[in-house]
Amino acid sequence: MTEKPFLSVLSGKPQKVPPIWLMRQAGRYLPEYRDVRKGYRNFLDMVYDPGAACEVTLQPLRRYRFDAAILFSDILVVPDALGCQVDFVEGEGPKIAPFRFSDLALEGMNERLTPVFETVAEIREKMRLEGFSETALIGFCGAPWTLACYMIEGKGSRDFLKTRKEAFENPEGFQNLIDLLVEASISYLTGQIKAGVEAIQIFESHAGILSAQAYRKWVIAPIQKIVEGVKLQYPEIPVIGFPKGSGFLYEDFARDSGVDALGLDCQVDPLEASSLFSLPLQGNLDPAALLAGGEAMIRETEAILQAFSGKPFIFNLGHGVDKETSPETVALLVETIRKGENL
Ligand code: CP3
Repeated sequence: MTEKPFLSVLSGKPQKVPPIWLMRQAGRYLPEYRDVRKGYRNFLDMVYDPGAACEVTLQPLRRYRFDAAILFSDILVVPDALGCQVDFVEGEGPKIAPFRFSDLALEGMNERLTPVFETVAEIREKMRLEGFSETALIGFCGAPWTLACYMIEGKGSRDFLKTRKEAFENPEGFQNLIDLLVEASISYLTGQIKAGVEAIQIFESHAGILSAQAYRKWVIAPIQKIVEGVKLQYPEIPVIGFPKGSGFLYEDFARDSGVDALGLDCQVDPLEASSLFSLPLQGNLDPAALLAGGEAMIRETEAILQAFSGKPFIFNLGHGVDKETSPETVALLVETIRKGENL
């Protein structure tokens, strides 16, 4: 069997046409997703229903034949399974109730996450039945710093000031929380791999709000431990790190985190990244360019393709698909990337 193009790139082999998938490719921009979503008052009920989670994972594959599927779940299932009370409030985003460190328990976490592992197995089986034999399945987790941000702040925030203050005021307590999240992430990711995911992405969505010193301590060090822990059991599974907003610190991250590939956000210049980094890269079309569509999107896309041509590269956005994006524009994006395919 030939290797799946997405996995080939992650092992360092450039492809003539780069493989493509999009962060948040399963989501509210698709009418068929909104149809399934309607059946659940709480978002987490849908996430923990293997039938529904499997179905919405496959929806974007059926439309666009992306080169990778990403498990439909959320980064906040880990705090949920550790014992936090997590809610998704319509129009307001996630909410986490205040907790004490002693409320959290690793023990029993993976039992609570059993539906997610069942979802993974069901996705692999359906992908086989539906003929997606060249498509890879990605598993994921949120990085400890990003999870701690939601847990301590209790909700989304522009700058997570309360969390940053806590890390300075109570560094030992904060380190204990990060250490627990490292252990939880290793166990959650190895559970996903055992169930059938073929690559991992670690989402560090709030990497961009820390000083350089704090970044090394709370972003790089914990992710490095997670990568090491996963590789101890599964050395062959590639790990993509996505430390959004890292700026200059992307270089430290690439050198020290141990990840196999780097997810680039929209601020990174494709030409500079292409000459600077030797590991496989993924990214980084601005979701706003996809929202705009048409000539502007095509121009931006072609510039990215040009910059990474001949390099091990996976096409993606610099952040998730916006919910107002037209499904037809996504089809045009895929066509733009693959138009040279049969030449
Ligand atoms: O298609 C995919 O990318 C896979 C599924 C996925 C979701 N969330 C589904 C989801 C993944 C990989 C995530 C990761 C995630 N979740 C991150 C990291 C990536 C990023 O966006 O920075 C973060 C920070 C979260 C936390 C989270 N979950 C927020 C802030 C929100 C609310 C934002 C919003 O758009 O409403 C969610 C909810 C969520 N997770 C939705 C989806 C499809 C929308 C909820 C709905 O359908 O009602």
